[in-house]
Amino acid sequence: MSAVRVMVPASTANLGPGFDCLGMALKLYNIVEMQEATKLEITVEGEGTTSIARDDSNLVCRAAAMLFERAGYRPGGLQIHLINNIPLARGLGSSSAAILGGLLAANALCGHPFAKQELLDMALKLEGHADNLAAALYGGIAIVAPVDGRVRHVKLYPPAGLKVIAAVPDYTLSTAASRKVLPETIPYRDAVYNLGRLALLVAALSRQDTELFSVAMQDALHQPYRSTLIPGMPAAMQAAQDAGALSVTLSGAGPTITAFACTREKEIARTMQQSLSDSGISGRVLILEPDSEGAKLKEQ
Ligand code: HSE
Repeated sequence: MSAVRVMVPASTANLGPGFDCLGMALKLYNIVEMQEATKLEITVEGEGTTSIARDDSNLVCRAAAMLFERAGYRPGGLQIHLINNIPLARGLGSSSAAILGGLLAANALCGHPFAKQELLDMALKLEGHADNLAAALYGGIAIVAPVDGRVRHVKLYPPAGLKVIAAVPDYTLSTAASRKVLPETIPYRDAVYNLGRLALLVAALSRQDTELFSVAMQDALHQPYRSTLIPGMPAAMQAAQDAGALSVTLSGAGPTITAFACTREKEIARTMQQSLSDSGISGRVLILEPDSEGAKLKEQ
């Protein structure tokens, strides 16, 4: 029986003003290896070795089971090996990567009955946020909007030479907890603040205009509320900005903070690391690049 291997990129969602609407894929990958077997066996390397479930509650396994069910396919069992490089519950799209890894691998094992768009719609049933999912599946920057029960998406590309400096605290924050602090309603002025910036940001990306990209990434809809959950966030953002970042955002639901720059990335990383440590937060800083290809499948 053949085995499949899927590489799924990390992603940073929202990109400032694009709350739930924008995501960017990053060159940091989780790998899912899957083959049919006589029973379920899950092994894990890297991030989450001590915490990830090894039974059928495992997210990769649940995604695969959902796909097999829809395809009417019944494998006797599955052997799944996970090589995880994306830190868990830090706002870097680890759940989306797990779900897409499970769906893409299972789809290949049963002969590719579903197209990519169908996999995206299926993934959305397991994880309610299409911004990370579309970015990780297609690569580049995804604009997403749910329309009539499906995810409409458009792919754009980040400015050439862009680096993403990610300050990843050691503590975790679930998306659910980070959404709980958001208010039920927001003032018009905050909505308009974000609408203008989001429009500028999309224009900046379409034109590859780095100067416009640097002014368009502020947010009034989620970051101010979430900063209450993320100690040291304003200081780390300011430090990155002072060190020459084009812009700095909370990555998805946090707690990772992402700075964007085309130059001085090492200096920005050093400054962000220092700022975390000055705030008494342990963590690491990764210098990443955008991924433009999205999830990749290899059948062996
Ligand atoms: N857009 C989501 C949020 C990211 O900020 O809550 C999680 O996928």
